[in-house]
Parts: sequence; structure tokens; C-alpha cells
Amino acid sequence: MNIEYVDICVGLSWGDEGKGKIVSQLSKQYDFVCRWSGGNNAGHTIYVNGKKYATHLIPSGVFHGVPSIIGPGCVVHKESFFKEIEYLQKNGFDTSLVKISPKTHIITDEHIEEDIQKYNKTIGTTAKGIGICYSDKYARKGIRIMDRKEDFKGYIWNEQLYGKILCEGAQGFWLDIDYGNYPYVTSSSCLPYSACNLGFPPQKIRKIFGAAKMYDTRVGNDPEFPDDLLCNQELLTIAKEGHEYGTTTNRPRLVNYLNLDKLITAVKISGTTDLIISKVDILKKTNIFRYYYQDKLYSALSIEEMKRIVENILYNCSGLLKNITFSSNPEQI
Ligand code: IMP
Ligand code: MG
Repeated sequence: MNIEYVDICVGLSWGDEGKGKIVSQLSKQYDFVCRWSGGNNAGHTIYVNGKKYATHLIPSGVFHGVPSIIGPGCVVHKESFFKEIEYLQKNGFDTSLVKISPKTHIITDEHIEEDIQKYNKTIGTTAKGIGICYSDKYARKGIRIMDRKEDFKGYIWNEQLYGKILCEGAQGFWLDIDYGNYPYVTSSSCLPYSACNLGFPPQKIRKIFGAAKMYDTRVGNDPEFPDDLLCNQELLTIAKEGHEYGTTTNRPRLVNYLNLDKLITAVKISGTTDLIISKVDILKKTNIFRYYYQDKLYSALSIEEMKRIVENILYNCSGLLKNITFSSNPEQI
């Protein structure tokens, strides 16, 4: 069977844009849901039949009976993987659908220890050993799933893709190793082109779903999100109303007004065709409708006006962008 097409869901900000919700809702329309980068540094919050679930590594297809692939560009910590498998099994999901590429690199306890010692405080990493594991991979001294076949018995992927494929991005455009504010970035490529590492040609890509929020948030250190944001009462109000805490680390997320300049760049370079902007209801509740555009801070009079402005600016910046959806529902698009 051939590959029919590939759709990709990508974060356009600093992670936590609601990709999990989007992928979860779309999953059933595909033959595979695949992760192409990162590891259990990610955090996906998903609602299935009204119940809330949180996963970190395993693609959201597993919640909907769809084969879920962890690709060769990902990194996997064995104990964390099996903990997630157990969690899914306890909740009645069919984990035989979960497969890992034999080429995927393994995060060791030493990787985690070094991440904690050297980078957790300085860069504000999630302390999951991600960057150190990728360092070993690129230094060509890493350990792969194929070296520990027995440990992952039953979960090894035969590396065959066919039909309709959905790729689930992790982190976001501004955490990307090449495009983010280096070194305050993650150690993998969050951009959709790198999803091709799963084993399909770029010509098969059909849609790119870009996920953003009506305001910006950031976990981890980043001079672009200075601590004085915590002194801004409006931003604290948005953070509180939006329950802005990291899914993986439970750290409070720094909040800033929507930066349209950054979003324009992310939409353009990612090739987003379908943009989904979430948490519109949060701004509506707070009555704060500010955004940055061309390096200046503006304020709209209402949520409706802000939506119109955002729409106009974004449609004009990229000919590839076909749809913008504003979402107020934490459970669905
Ligand atoms: P690492 O990926 O653990 O090395 O962390 C590097 C940077 O990316 C830190 O600023 C983290 O807070 C951030 N980061 C990594 N994964 C996520 C995520 O899924 N959501 C939000 N931030 C993330
Ligand atoms: Mg997340």
C-alpha cells in the first residue's frame, strides 16, 4: 500500500499551544499518528469522552485506536516509556498500537543525571536528558532501540507507512534548535520538514496544521521572557485565568501578549495551511486584548476586533495559509 498523504501538526510558539487537542480530534481520519522529534520533554493534555489524560511521549493516536509511531528522530527513556504504557493500559487503551523505530535513540539515566547537573538550572530544560542524548547521537556514540531489542519486545516498528498519516509535532517553532533563541531551545527540530525523517518524501505533505494561542507562554529560561513579566498585573491575570502551568514539569508558564511578528515568521517558515488559535475565551474573560505588531504594543477594543486584526494580518503574510480557526474549547478545536 502506498502513502496517500501526510498532514502535520506543528506548534508555532514555545510549545503548549494545544497540539495534543488538535491531533487527538483529527486522529481517527488517519492510518498512523507519528512523532518525529523530541521525547518525554513534551506534554500533551488530551480529553477523551470528557476525561482528561496527560501523555509525554506516546502519540495521541493511541487514544483513538490508531497505530502510533515513535520515529527514528525521537529519543526514548525506557522506564518512562513503560510507565506511560502502563498508564494507558490501566485506562483501557490498546497499547499494542504503539511502535518505536529500531533507529530511535535511548535516553540513559546518565543522560538525565547530566541534564539535571548542567542544564536544568541554566537553560531551564525539563531535566529529561533530551539534549545529552541527542549530543551522543550526533557524536555517533548513542545507543539505539535496535541495540536493546529484547527490552522493547512487541513495540518495535517494522518501518512501514501507508495510507493517510498524521505527524504530531512536539515543542514549537521558537524552541527549534535552528530557529529558537539559542541556546534557550530544545535539542531537536520542531519544524514540519523534519517529519520526513519518518520515511516519506516531502511531496506527500498535504496540510500543515499550525497551533498557537491568543497570547504567548513560555516555560524554561529565555531572555525574551524576562522575569519582570511576573510584575505585570494584566499578564498575571491571563496566566491565572488560563491555568498556565507546564504539563511535564508543573512549572508556572511566563505569559506575554501575543507577538504577531513572531507568529508571522512561524506561519511563513512552517508553511502552515490551517492555523488554529486557541484560548480565545481566556482573553475574552480577562478583557485584555493586546498584541505586539511590528515591535509595538497595540490594544484592540474587543475580542471580535482582535480576531479580525489577527486574521487580516496573517492572511496577508502568507499565501499558503488557507484557514484560520479560533478556538475557545479546551477539549476540541
Ligand atoms: P529540553 O527539551 O528538556 O532540553 O528543554 C529545553 C527548553 O525547551 C526548555 O526551555 C524547556 O522548558 C522547553 N521545552 C521542552 N519541551 C517543552 C514542551 O513540550 N513544552 C514547552 N516547553 C518545552
Ligand atoms: Mg505541551
